[in-house]
Amino acid sequence: MTATIIDGKGFAAGLRERIAGHVAGLKSQHGITPGLAVVIVGEDPASQVYVASKARLTAEVGMHSVKHELPRETSQAALLQLIDELNRDDAIHGILVQMPVPDQIDPNAVINAISPEKDVDCFTPANVGKLAIGLPGPVSCTPLGCLMLLRDQLGELSGKEAVIIGRSNLVGKPLAQLLLRDNCTVTMAHSRTADLASVVKRADIVVAAAGRPNMVKGDWLKPGATVIDVGINRVPAPERGEGKTRLVGDVEFDSAADVAGAITPVPGGVGPMTIACLLANTITTASLLNG
Ligand code: GUN
Repeated sequence: MTATIIDGKGFAAGLRERIAGHVAGLKSQHGITPGLAVVIVGEDPASQVYVASKARLTAEVGMHSVKHELPRETSQAALLQLIDELNRDDAIHGILVQMPVPDQIDPNAVINAISPEKDVDCFTPANVGKLAIGLPGPVSCTPLGCLMLLRDQLGELSGKEAVIIGRSNLVGKPLAQLLLRDNCTVTMAHSRTADLASVVKRADIVVAAAGRPNMVKGDWLKPGATVIDVGINRVPAPERGEGKTRLVGDVEFDSAADVAGAITPVPGGVGPMTIACLLANTITTASLLNG
């Protein structure tokens, strides 16, 4: 293995420390305690773990942290009513409804119900538009985390060839906006891209966000490329015992680490950055809401 392992976990811990300092300053100088409400509907175990981490780390940086756990059969009307209450609550500056929501609830109705001023996920059309034209506001958490790691690793990104695999609203599309803003030449690849390996081969920066375990192979990469693996896939791990599983990314780590210049691990790469950026967004919305 020759690649540098990008320590997202450590970077995120440092970022949360800086955020805690910022929160302390907002409290002492402006009397503002940023508040984040996280809402989960249903009992999906992975979502429960994410939401518990979000609520815990929110409190840890000194913010007001509220968690709403609603039963799986919650109606859309009841969820929208809660969002309406949170929109009106002056102690709350950020609202996050964990996705996916159960089938009886339309995710777009949920997103559209959240006040754009409290939309710390940057999911609402107003904030997606602001991001696209470079106006101040929240920035999608996982893409922002990827951008921070890339800037930290590479410094200036201007002129770099970036290939993003995956065109989701959550990661691929907003990350393309951010990398364009940093003057990268951006290619969006996806499930219908012809000859993905040769598209990836020209990239200085590869971001894999396709949701397919171990899809990107080491021999697809340009030697020295920086690889950001957004994938979090649970796969069977019989070597750990019967019925055991482990987490892998969208990049085949061992082969990629022999070719890449730097690579994020899974877990411990992009994942911790997403939550730290959620907290950073809550500071942004709290500051904007308080003029
Ligand atoms: N589910 C998986 N990732 C996310 C995220 O970043 N935000 C929300 N709201 N739900 C998610």
